Amino acid sequence: MDKIIIRGTARLSGTVPVSGAKNSALTLLPCALLTDEPLTLRNLPRLADVDGFQHLLNQFGVSTAIAGTRPEDFGRVMTLTATRLTSTVAPYELVRKMRASILVLGPMLARAGEATVSLPGGCAIGNRPIDLHLKVLEALGAEIELAAGYVRARAPDGGLPGGRYSFPVVSVGATENALMAAVLAKGKTTLHNAAREPEIVDLCNLLVAMGAQIEGIGTSDVTIHGVPRLHGATYQVMPDRIEAGSYACAAVITGGEVMLTGARIAEMEATVQALRDAGAHVEPRPGGLFVAADGPIRPVTLSTAPYPGFATDMQAQLMALLTRAEGTSVLTETIFENRYMHVPELNRMGAHIETKGRTAIVHGVPKLTGAEVMATDLRASMSLVIAGLAAEGETQVHRLYHLDRGYERLEEKLALLGADIERVGGD
Ligand code: EPZ
Repeated sequence: MDKIIIRGTARLSGTVPVSGAKNSALTLLPCALLTDEPLTLRNLPRLADVDGFQHLLNQFGVSTAIAGTRPEDFGRVMTLTATRLTSTVAPYELVRKMRASILVLGPMLARAGEATVSLPGGCAIGNRPIDLHLKVLEALGAEIELAAGYVRARAPDGGLPGGRYSFPVVSVGATENALMAAVLAKGKTTLHNAAREPEIVDLCNLLVAMGAQIEGIGTSDVTIHGVPRLHGATYQVMPDRIEAGSYACAAVITGGEVMLTGARIAEMEATVQALRDAGAHVEPRPGGLFVAADGPIRPVTLSTAPYPGFATDMQAQLMALLTRAEGTSVLTETIFENRYMHVPELNRMGAHIETKGRTAIVHGVPKLTGAEVMATDLRASMSLVIAGLAAEGETQVHRLYHLDRGYERLEEKLALLGADIERVGGD
C-alpha cells in the first residue's frame, strides 16, 4: 500500500486550486437517477469515493462518460445517463466500501418506486446509523423493511405521496435522501430542522436546474412541490470548503501563506473565524481566499456543530494546527462519538493532547517530531499530514487510501506550496 513521506519544516507559500467538493459530488451523482436525460457534472473531484459512486451507478445501468479533461487537469467532467434502470439493488460489497452509497435510496425510490440498499454499517468515526433516512422516507409515504442486512423501500402504486417531517437532530445525508425523494413525489413535502450545509444548497440548486420546485433553500425549513418528471442539466460542483480549510491549516502551521483559488469565504465563516482566532490573517481576494500565518499561533476553544457552526470535518485539521499554539485549546466534538482517532498519533509526534469523552484539551508544544503514523479515517489522515509538515524530521503516513477518498492529488498540491513530500508505493 502507498505511503506519504513528509520532511518538515518548510514554510509553505503559493497558490492551490481548490477542487470540487467531495460531499457535494456524492449527493449530486445520484441525481442522475431522477431523470432519463443526460446529467453533466463539471468540476467533479478525482477521488476514490467519486470513482466508487460512478461504479455503483453503473451497476444500476447508468451510463457514465468522462470528457474533456487532460491528465494534468484538476477535476473532471462526467455525463451520466439513466435511460432505463437494470437494477434497483445496491449490493453489500459496494455499499460497505463507501457509506455514501445510502444516498441512492431516495432517488432510486423516487424514480423506480422501489430500492434495496445494503445497510452501510459503521465506520471509524462512529456507528453512523441511518434511522433518520428511513423515518423521513416513511413520512413521505414509503414502506420500509429491514431484512438480511438490507433496507427494502417501496413507494405506493403511483409514487410517493409526499408528507412532512421534523428532524430530531440535523442529518446531512437524511436531508439529502429526503430532498431527492420528494422532488418527484405526487404532492408537497415540508422538512423541518433540515441540514443547511452548503452541499445541501448545491444539491437543491442542481435539482431546481433539473426542474424541481423547492422553497427555503439554505434554511432549516424546506418545502418541495413534487413534479411529474425532471430533465437533464449541466452543473458545476461547488468548491470544497473542507479541503480549502485543510490547506489553510497546513500553511499557517508552517508559518507560511496560501492563496486558495476557488474558495468561497461565505461558505467558510466558522473556519475563517477559527483561523483568525488562532492568529492567522485571512483575506478574501478576487478568485479565492488568502490565508497567512501572522505571528504566533494562539489557542482556540470551540465546539463542532451543524452548519453554520464549525464543521466536524474540520476538527482534526484545526487540532493539528493547535498542537503548536502558545497555550491550551479546548475542542468539543458534538457530531460524532469517536472522532479523536488522530489524537494518539499526534501525541506520538510530540503533541500533548488529552481527551475526556467528546472534549479534547490541546496543550500547545514548542515543536513536533516526525514519526511513522497510521491513517485511520479521512480527516484524521489530513491532520497527520498537517502535523508532519511542521514536524522536525521525517513523517511517514501509512494507509493512504483514507486520504485518497477525500483529497484530490494531495501531494501534488502540497508540493505546489513547497512542501518536501513524496508518495511511495508498496509498504
Ligand atoms: C455527512 O455525513 C458527511 N458525509 C460527513 O463528512 C460529515 O461529517 C457529516 O455529514 C456531518 O457534517 C458526506 O456528505 C458524504 P449526518 P452524514 O447524517 O450525512 C447522526 C467527511 O469526512 N445520524 O449529518 O453521514 C450521525 O450518527 C465525512 O467528509 C443519526 O443518528 O452525517 C451523526 O452523529 C465524514 N441517524 C449525526 O447524526 C441518521 O439516520 C450527523 O450525521 C443519520 C445520522
